[in-house]
Amino acid sequence: MRDMSKWPIQLSDFTESMDEYSRELSKLFELLMEVLSRDLDLESENSLNESVGGERKGLHIRINYYPPCPQPDLVVGLAPHSDPNVLTILLHDQTPGLQIRKNGAWIDVQCVPGALVVNIADQMEILSNGKFKSIEHRGVVHKDRSRMSWAVFCSPPRDVLVSPKRELIDEQHPPLYQGASYGEYLTKFFKKGLDGKGHIHDAKQQDSLVSNS
Ligand code: OGA
Ligand code: NI
Repeated sequence: MRDMSKWPIQLSDFTESMDEYSRELSKLFELLMEVLSRDLDLESENSLNESVGGERKGLHIRINYYPPCPQPDLVVGLAPHSDPNVLTILLHDQTPGLQIRKNGAWIDVQCVPGALVVNIADQMEILSNGKFKSIEHRGVVHKDRSRMSWAVFCSPPRDVLVSPKRELIDEQHPPLYQGASYGEYLTKFFKKGLDGKGHIHDAKQQDSLVSNS
């Protein structure tokens, strides 16, 4: 899906660096999916990779730039949301700003040099039938420092139907989410915009909402 005509030409090593980074992250993503398949006790460690289209999966990068802001309390950097894709692998600089929501409270994600942050995103919550919950997060701005982050969104292709893994469903564990193609999910996501965990809530089966909202 790369359209090289839109890439910056002034930064001589940008294309090469991005190319290498995406190849390495593709491998890391596949490895994480194997580990998570094992955690879910799925029959094959390729199970989750297969569910997101295997080699056809997509990696999309968003490079966020947050300028300094003298009144950070009055400004939203990036509104609360969970990511719509499967897993997000994020690299950020040494200015804090990423926060996750845990038990209602916002918690700073530490800036550890050289470390990547991995977010569980909505399609993983659906595939795992709610065993892994997508993480709600937001970006806040800093009083006198700018901040940059590089978020890589690992996603199924748009035509892939994502629903809870059949192996995880039995009488005690009914499917908690409606299946939808990733394209349908994404279209709704961009239509409504960032909305906390609203999108994954909308994907829940109506009869599961009573016990599992
Ligand atoms: C995102 C995101 C967080 C950050 O781009 O979806 O959540 O730290 N970014 O910039
Ligand atoms: Ni995000």
